[in-house]
Amino acid sequence: MKPFFLSLTLTFLLFGFTTGFSLTFSNDEQVLDTNGNPIISGGEYYIFPATLDHHKGGLRLAKTGDSKCPDTILQNVNITGLPLKFTIPNISNGIILVGTKLDIEFTKKPNCVKSSKWLIVYDSEHDQNIFHVGIGDHESKPETSIPGIFYIKKYDNAYKIEFCFDDDMGGYNCKNVMRWKDFKEGESPLVVLAEHVQDPYPVVFVDAPSFESGIAMDVMF
Ligand SMILES: *[C@@H]1O[C@H](CO)[C@@H](O)[C@H](O)[C@H]1NC(C)=O
Ligand SMILES: *[C@@H]1O[C@H](CO)[C@@H](O)[C@H](O)[C@H]1NC(C)=O
Repeated sequence: MKPFFLSLTLTFLLFGFTTGFSLTFSNDEQVLDTNGNPIISGGEYYIFPATLDHHKGGLRLAKTGDSKCPDTILQNVNITGLPLKFTIPNISNGIILVGTKLDIEFTKKPNCVKSSKWLIVYDSEHDQNIFHVGIGDHESKPETSIPGIFYIKKYDNAYKIEFCFDDDMGGYNCKNVMRWKDFKEGESPLVVLAEHVQDPYPVVFVDAPSFESGIAMDVMF
């Protein structure tokens, strides 16, 4: 019996040590909304620019190029836009930390796509190093979409979203999700640039139900 209890105690000690240790890692910080509450997997949020006014600058879906489907994401200064949810792949419920692997998905879906999950799309018409953030499923567009995963990272007093490409060596090559400047005044596609300068797009997450009922508190910033 003794060795058993000893190993049990050791296990608890080790468990305590590792959890205590990992809590001191900054990556274990929970992602907060502008009310100061942790982002919940499956909850509905707006993504707004991290400016003083967290009421507009939301995201919409549009047709671009010769696409017949509104499957490209644009950020527009004037709109509330569409709410989104964050989920952790293969985990139905979970705590979303800075650096947790995420699926990002609009809560509504146009009929022309199978999924409203964010997807990185290769734009062969233009600069080969520009990837658009769109929606859809990788299986439907294996040739033109890029496998990888999204993360939320801290940036200044707010957050930024990163997309990490699966690289050939089983690792990740992470780039900021940015706004593409030279599109139209006040409206920009969200893009990931493989080679160019990496200007992050600082964002906040606004709880959609409290925003819609007008009780968003904005305690965080
Ligand atoms: C989720 O599970 C599938 C099937 O088991 C696996 O192929 C995929 O890599 C997993 N996704 C992540 C992000 O871990
Ligand atoms: C935003 O609204 C202003 C004022 O109505 C308008 O002039 C401008 O064109 C709009 N910009 C976009 C990108 O929708």
